Amino acid sequence: MSDHGTGSTTQAGIPAVSDRNSLTVGPDGPIVLHDHQLVETLQHFNRMNVPERRPHAKGAGAFGEFVVTEDVSAFTKAALFQSGARTRVLLRFSTVAGELGSPDTWRDVRGFALKLYTEEGNLDIVGNNTPIFFVRDPMKFPHFIRSQKRLPDSGLRDATMQWDFWTRNPESAHQVTYLMGDRGLPKTWRHMNGYGSHTYMWVNAAGEKFWVKYHFVSQQGVESFTAEDAERMAGLDADHHRRDLFESIERGELPRWDLYVQVVPYAEARDYRFNIFDLTKTISKKDYPRIKVGTLTLNENPTNFFAQIEQAAFSPANMVPGTGLSPDKMLLGRTFAYADAQRYRIGTNFQQLPVNKPINEVKSYNFEGAMTYEHRGAAPVYAPNSFGESWSDETGPVDSSWESDGELVRSAYTLHAEDDDFGQAGTLYREVFDDGARSRFVDTLTGQGRAIAHDVVLENFFGYWTAVDAGLGATLRQRVGAAGASA
Ligand code: HEM
Repeated sequence: MSDHGTGSTTQAGIPAVSDRNSLTVGPDGPIVLHDHQLVETLQHFNRMNVPERRPHAKGAGAFGEFVVTEDVSAFTKAALFQSGARTRVLLRFSTVAGELGSPDTWRDVRGFALKLYTEEGNLDIVGNNTPIFFVRDPMKFPHFIRSQKRLPDSGLRDATMQWDFWTRNPESAHQVTYLMGDRGLPKTWRHMNGYGSHTYMWVNAAGEKFWVKYHFVSQQGVESFTAEDAERMAGLDADHHRRDLFESIERGELPRWDLYVQVVPYAEARDYRFNIFDLTKTISKKDYPRIKVGTLTLNENPTNFFAQIEQAAFSPANMVPGTGLSPDKMLLGRTFAYADAQRYRIGTNFQQLPVNKPINEVKSYNFEGAMTYEHRGAAPVYAPNSFGESWSDETGPVDSSWESDGELVRSAYTLHAEDDDFGQAGTLYREVFDDGARSRFVDTLTGQGRAIAHDVVLENFFGYWTAVDAGLGATLRQRVGAAGASA
């Protein structure tokens, strides 16, 4: 026996015999099947991973605190948004299209997923570093993600497929303009803003309703890589963003974001210039200035990446009293998708894991299932019951509701004067980008256009950018030339 003795145990807690040598018939003889420790070691190794998230697979995160510094009680009664409230949070950043192990600095939108562990349950704000999105109907989301991932035969990513999707879904123009601009290449996760993106609802103590947009503005400022630096970094350190976040928190350089909201009184949505539930649009800050709420600080790294980040489960369906959804079809579609993905990815009882568990007591009537850990003992398993176990039974209008009527139809949003697909993209290109940003944007699009290997898709590419800005379209046509020119 070595000096080490039996310092470890099997998973049943039995003193283990050896983590180094399997049990054999004589020193060089065959291994015996009843070497329980070997069998357990090999079997558990085969089950060490869970499926990666379908989109947003590559990411990392940290814990922290959200502190409310202002009084926004006129707009919401949510306990976590009351003046002085302090709430523990988990924030996970991610890329969208890349798989686990892909470089952090590839051009992409970045996820900004926040879980706030409030005394009224978990509030998840699952947003991105852009205030808008590519499509406005959940039916299109799987098509969109598949077009950004890989071809079925070669398993390669493909510019032709990406641009075919985008140009055939022109509502993507605003988001694609962001993506191909500097914000598609954030320098670090600390140097980008986070947005709830959708229009959400807030309800105050008097029952008045407001539409809100969440904006988390980086105190570090917004900084981007150049395309060359991002590409170089992808080769030098594929985990650059993950490393930067972890190390800056280790050093005590704590990243901070100020939360602002744009608040639209409930009734004003109806006659606004465009549909404020259309996720491809931003609401003008001139019309609805940002109001400060508080500050978010990340101050604690995970102690176990798998348990606390890989198994973290965020869902836009997680709303607390005083907050609510909106008629945004994307948001409504998302309320189904996330918990479904997590039941598959992590397991039926993923909400019992410490990272996902709320801090308040859970009294749900959903019981049992694989890996049940929490339970209510011998309490009644049905409601209503006559044995003192509480249940819920509200009827009538709900707090965070909105009016809706009409027949069941399938339609795109076409209700408001400025509900076009290209206007805000053109404004972003002409008025928000400065000369340097515009020139980098044109260079990026030129490279993208040259990678399109299909005449129809390339013609659609020129048409798409001409609709954003006629001069831009002409420049690209001239610089890119014909399909396959770079081949
Ligand atoms: C109908 C549209 C959408 C669907 C069906 C959808 C679906 C999903 C699914 C299934 C996941 C993986 C969840 C998991 O395995 O834990 C995910 C992750 C994510 N989605 Fe979406 N998504 C949609 C739109 C959006 C939009 C509009 C945003 C941002 C505004 C967004 C931001 C994110 C983020 C940040 C994550 C990563 C969450 C994390 O860090 O764990 N998604 N999405």
